[in-house]
Amino acid sequence: MAKLFFLLSGEHESLPLSELQAILDTEGHAHKLLERLDQVVRLETDLEAVEALKRRAAFTRICALELFNCDAKVSAIVKSVRSTNLKDFLKENESFAVRVKHVKEHSSEVNGMILERKIGELLLENTVKTRVDLRRPDKVFVGILTSEKFVFGLKLAEIAPKPFVERRPRRKPFFHPSAMQAKLARCMVNLARPRAGDLVLDPFCGTGSMLIEAALIDCRVVGLDVQRRMARGTLRNLAYFKIKPEGVITADARRLPITKVDCIVTDPPYGISSTTLKRNMKQIVEELLTSVYTLLSSGRRICMAAPKTLKIVQIGSALGYKHLESHFVYVHRSLTREVVVFEKVSTE
Ligand SMILES: C[S@@+](CC[C@H](N)C(=O)[O-])C[C@H]1O[C@@H](n2cnc3c(N)ncnc32)[C@H](O)[C@@H]1O
Repeated sequence: MAKLFFLLSGEHESLPLSELQAILDTEGHAHKLLERLDQVVRLETDLEAVEALKRRAAFTRICALELFNCDAKVSAIVKSVRSTNLKDFLKENESFAVRVKHVKEHSSEVNGMILERKIGELLLENTVKTRVDLRRPDKVFVGILTSEKFVFGLKLAEIAPKPFVERRPRRKPFFHPSAMQAKLARCMVNLARPRAGDLVLDPFCGTGSMLIEAALIDCRVVGLDVQRRMARGTLRNLAYFKIKPEGVITADARRLPITKVDCIVTDPPYGISSTTLKRNMKQIVEELLTSVYTLLSSGRRICMAAPKTLKIVQIGSALGYKHLESHFVYVHRSLTREVVVFEKVSTE
């Protein structure tokens, strides 16, 4: 086990850490949470966990091997750099860069640029024949000022947000205003914890956002939509990303044409921009959770979104699901989504 830290997206309070933990669990990387700071989490896990995060995470920005953490004070930082065995991380003739980041509202008195330079000088002094190269360094050291602390380490990976931007609803060949952002869709897929090869169902597939994100982490996917034009649109979008689904079926989620799936990830219609077949939101969710119950094996999960006002936890619990977690995502003045994860429990 190694001590790692992760810079998380500031887009949401609780989703980034839940997603990270879900990925580590799903991919079999045992982990121990050491500390939760603002947008930074420190934990112990194995180094291969970084590869899993690079492949799957939507809300993790940077993964780093921790060298030290201390108070966000220049004197404490200098002392910590001096007492770190830097030669273990920076070999003879290697080049390096130091990057210091402030987590948003933290107006630490420490100046990031001055700190980068100071740490750079200390690295040069305490290693052999190393040099600074800001363009193409062999090693990047990253320090983060957050929650009155400074966390410093060797960068192992940076996860670029660009691919998610390129999969925004408006960038896909088939667009509909009810489509979910790729990042949130990926995060919801991760919260349902599918492994590669698992069959993931979206019974309200719309433009296919959930299916695309699940397929891109090597899941098999199947989608349903009651409207033929939406099912066709999903097929168009999947083809654009060269994804071959197990099936995209024009069908009603209340009468499922399939018998077994591993996970379900979905965003039901709220009656704002997508059809609800004259059912109210509570009926839709109750009918969905009832119809999909037998599709899941016990211990498997459904991650879905619903308006916060619906109190979906009560509905799912009354139908026999175990509520695992909820996250509230503000969309606009009259809509806050509750992203909820339910587990099917054993009935034996
Ligand atoms: C909120 S949209 C899903 C958006 C989708 N997550 C995306 O990102 O594109 C809900 C979809 O459910 C479909 N729908 C409504 N009632 C349905 C039902 N009973 N069975 C299956 N699909 C239904 C609608 O046609 C609509 O496309």
